[in-house]
Amino acid sequence: MNKTKVAIIGCGTIAETAHIPAYLNNPNAEIKYFCDAKKENAERFVKKYGCGIAVQDYRDILDDPELEAVSVCTPNNTHASISIHCLRAGKNVLCEKPAARTYSEAIQMQKAQHESGKVLNIGMVNRFNKAVNIIKDLIENGELGELYHVYASFRAHRSIPGLGGAFTTKEISGGGVMIDWGIHFLDVVMYCSGDPAPKSVSAQTYSKLGRNMKDYTYMNMWAGPPKLEGVYDVDDFVTAMIRTEGPSITLNGAWAQNIGEDEMFIDFLGDKAGIRLQYGGSFKMYSAKNGVLLETTPKFNPGDHFQNEIDAFLNSIRTGEKQPSHIDTVIISAKMIQAIYDSSEQQKEIIFD
Ligand SMILES: NC(=O)c1ccc[n+]([C@@H]2O[C@H](COP(=O)([O-])OP(=O)(O)OC[C@H]3O[C@@H](n4cnc5c(N)ncnc54)[C@H](O)[C@@H]3O)[C@@H](O)[C@H]2O)c1
Repeated sequence: MNKTKVAIIGCGTIAETAHIPAYLNNPNAEIKYFCDAKKENAERFVKKYGCGIAVQDYRDILDDPELEAVSVCTPNNTHASISIHCLRAGKNVLCEKPAARTYSEAIQMQKAQHESGKVLNIGMVNRFNKAVNIIKDLIENGELGELYHVYASFRAHRSIPGLGGAFTTKEISGGGVMIDWGIHFLDVVMYCSGDPAPKSVSAQTYSKLGRNMKDYTYMNMWAGPPKLEGVYDVDDFVTAMIRTEGPSITLNGAWAQNIGEDEMFIDFLGDKAGIRLQYGGSFKMYSAKNGVLLETTPKFNPGDHFQNEIDAFLNSIRTGEKQPSHIDTVIISAKMIQAIYDSSEQQKEIIFD
C-alpha cells in the first residue's frame, strides 16, 4: 500500500505535540511537507524529524498530485481560508479546532467539503478519547436512565493564554475561553448525548480579569509572554444555558476567575445514575442499589486520543468512512457557540428554528 503523503501547515505547538508524532507513528503516512508562514519554523521541523521539505506558502504545494492530505495547525483566523483552498485543490483536510471563528465561516468550509467530496474533519479530539467513548456507550445503553441535564465547568484561577497575542485578539481567535476551551467541553457533552439538536441558547460572556493587561497577575502563562501593546477583546468568563432535544446543558467557563482551585469536569446527570468526568482524565459513576449508594471507578487503558484522531483521518481518506469529527457533525456546536456570543451581545435568548 502506498503511503499517504501529508503536509503539516502551521509548525507550532499543536503540530509538534500531537499531529507530527501521530503521523510519524502511523505506518501508512509520510510527511512530505512542513509549511509555515515563518519559514524558519518549517526548517526547524525538517531538521528535527529528518524528513519533509520546508515551504513558506502552502499554495506552492497544492499542485503536487502526490500530496493527499493536510493538517491545518495554524491560528483560527486562517482555518477557513486554508481549508477551503486545500479542499478545492483536491486535498483531504484535518483542521484544528475550532473549525473557524464564526458559524458563517464554518458553513463556507462545509460547502467546500460537499462540493469537493474530500474529507474535512475538525480536531475535536475528545471524540477519539477512550473515557469519553465509554461514557457515550453507558448513556446509550441506558445505564444512567434518562439523561436530563449536563453541567460543564472549565474554570481556571489564572490561565489567560498569551495575553495581548493571537488568543486574546478576537479578529484572530474569534473569541476567548468559550471558543478556545469551551468548544472541547461542549463537544464532549454533545457527543456523549448523541449530538441532540439545540433548541435555544441564553448566555452571558465577560471580559474582566485580563482587561487591564498591565494589572493582570498570574503564576505562569502558556502561549506567552504578554504583549502589553497587544489586544485583549475576548471573553475570559462565559456562562450559558442551552436547551436541546436531549438534555439541557449549563456551561461555566473561565480562563481566569478569583477562585481557589481550577475545576475541569463534566457532570452527566441521569435519573438512574450520574457520571463525573474529569476532563482529560477518568470518570466516576454514582448510583444507588439495594438501599445503598454506589460509587464506581472504571479501569481501562486510556490510549492516545491524538493518535486515534490521526489514524481515523487517514482511514477515512482510504475508505470514505465518515468520522464523528466530520464537519457535518461538528457544525452544530459551531452554531451553538455563535448563538452563545450572539445571545450575550444582543442580551436575549436565541431560539433555533
Ligand atoms: N486540539 C487541541 O486540543 C488544541 C490544542 C492547542 C491548539 N489547538 C489549535 O491549534 C491551532 C494552532 O495553535 P498552536 O497553539 O499550535 O499555535 P502556534 O502559534 O504555536 O502555531 C501556529 C503556527 O502557524 C503558523 N502560521 C500562521 N499563519 C500561517 C499561515 N497562513 N500559513 C502557514 N503557517 C502559518 C505560525 O507561524 C505558527 O508557527 C489553533 O487553532 C488552536 O486552537 C488545538
